Amino acid sequence: MTIVSIWCRHKGDNVIGAGLGLPWKIASDTRRFRNLTEGQVKVMGGRTYSGMPQKVLTGRKVIVLDNTGKTELFDAQNHILVSDINQLKDYSEDLYVSGGAFVYYLFFSTPALMPDVVVDCVYGGPIDDGAQNLVDVSASVAILEQKYQALPQRFELDGVVTTVWLKKGDFVAQSTVKKILNYLETEGK
Ligand SMILES: NC(=O)c1ccc[n+]([C@@H]2O[C@H](COP(=O)([O-])OP(=O)(O)OC[C@H]3O[C@@H](n4cnc5c(N)ncnc54)[C@H](OP(=O)(O)O)[C@@H]3O)[C@@H](O)[C@H]2O)c1
Repeated sequence: MTIVSIWCRHKGDNVIGAGLGLPWKIASDTRRFRNLTEGQVKVMGGRTYSGMPQKVLTGRKVIVLDNTGKTELFDAQNHILVSDINQLKDYSEDLYVSGGAFVYYLFFSTPALMPDVVVDCVYGGPIDDGAQNLVDVSASVAILEQKYQALPQRFELDGVVTTVWLKKGDFVAQSTVKKILNYLETEGK
């Protein structure tokens, strides 16, 4: 199993969200997330799941992490609810960790489930005026900077600079990394 984590964080403060939504609207960023996770099993927290448009997730495999039991699944055929991250340790397929901050940190701080690959998109533009209840991934970024190595390539599109990081000292499936880099090299062209 390869675990890939993907986020778009705001430069400087590592903000990724406001309430249940995003404090920016960048079409190419939404497209990147959709294309890189297409056909893959996405793992997300109950708040992220509730805040995403249903049509984006319907018909796609999603694991919702929620230890409160509050989240209602809207596609019972393809979505499952998991209350304990440890249940994913022997999962048979690759996992694409898709947020939010709580769930990213759960993966980064669980040794057996630390992402192998991190697609780190950093947005340098302004966040929406009046955005409230900001959510940030600073705790996960601290682990990223310590335990991961950035590949040298930088991909820039619409104010977002994307870097791919690999977990230090671990074998990482090259086919997965290649696929991600290929997509990033060609996007927007
Ligand atoms: N920019 C990006 O790349 C990106 C990607 C994904 C998500 N986001 C943003 O991230 C935000 C959501 O992240 P999040 O961290 O709030 O939630 P989350 O990771 O999506 O979900 C956390 C889940 O765990 C539960 N939980 C239990 N204890 C918790 C605790 N101590 N803290 C937080 N959750 C706890 C929550 O239940 P309760 O609901 O009962 O608290 C919820 O079901 C949204 O703003 C979303 O838009 C951004």
